[in-house]
Amino acid sequence: MTRLVYISGEMVPEHEAKISIFDSAIMVADTVTESTRTFHKTPFKLDEHIARLYRSMKLTHINPQMTPEQLKKITLDVLAANLSNYEDHQDCWIVHNISRGLSVPGADPTKQLGAATVMIFTQLMDLRSWANFYREGCHAVTPMSRMVPSQSLDPRIKNRSRLPYTMAEMEVKLVDPLAQSVILDLDGHVAENKGGNIFAVINGVLKTPTTVNCLAGVSRATALELAQKLGIPTQETVLLPYDLATADEVFFTSTPYCIMPATKFNGGVVGDGKIGPVTKRLLAAWSELVGIDIVQQALAQIN
Ligand SMILES: Cc1ncc(COP(=O)(O)O)c(C=O)c1O
Repeated sequence: MTRLVYISGEMVPEHEAKISIFDSAIMVADTVTESTRTFHKTPFKLDEHIARLYRSMKLTHINPQMTPEQLKKITLDVLAANLSNYEDHQDCWIVHNISRGLSVPGADPTKQLGAATVMIFTQLMDLRSWANFYREGCHAVTPMSRMVPSQSLDPRIKNRSRLPYTMAEMEVKLVDPLAQSVILDLDGHVAENKGGNIFAVINGVLKTPTTVNCLAGVSRATALELAQKLGIPTQETVLLPYDLATADEVFFTSTPYCIMPATKFNGGVVGDGKIGPVTKRLLAAWSELVGIDIVQQALAQIN
């Protein structure tokens, strides 16, 4: 069945969804965003994603002209309209992109001249590029580009102005085509990945940067909640590359893969080079929480 997408008030086949070349999404990359995933075709923490989206819109003064409840209803309608596109064992993303709408060159770019452009679509949860990392761990690498400082743009505003993240990811992939970025802030503190948060297990404590320099990831919060339930001490703190290089375990968190273990950092081995016990316990707890073996679901896509 053709995918149906939502664009500014209408649900249409994807080839009919069009935006103007003058949309602020293109003119100034002036778009806030969310990516939610399903487990068993049910959205995971959709309320938290919508709440974060509305916080991003409050800060950027983008007015979607609908309430969070209305947006949630439309989101669930888009999912329902597309569910038959996915097989029983498959899940999907639900993506929200909301731009300020038409931008007229020369006008004050901070003004929303008309309706915001609200775009919502689903997409197959394709886990193939991460799946093998559940078996072997990935290579975490620090790029030469640093985070846009929080003093310039608060990283908690989840937005589509992605060039800095793309540059950072490109730089690490020049070092190792399968590398995943560990972007540092201007002080050299570990911040985040281009699409994920970063954790280290150090002397039995699960540590992650504070949200001073990274997105308040929904998966980050889930990992912290699960650790607390399992009795694993947690700490939000400053981490340096030294801490990752000497950690017992390192992993990333993000909506699609939930937890992605890293067994190498900047060419060196993390811990004993194998996926560690805390990472495994958290992956198991996450699978239990959502009623799906998340590792098997990903591995099934590459086996
Ligand atoms: C820059 C950045 N950091 C972290 C994350 C992880 O956030 P979440 O766990 O809510 O997916 C994302 C997600 O896309 C991101 O874009």
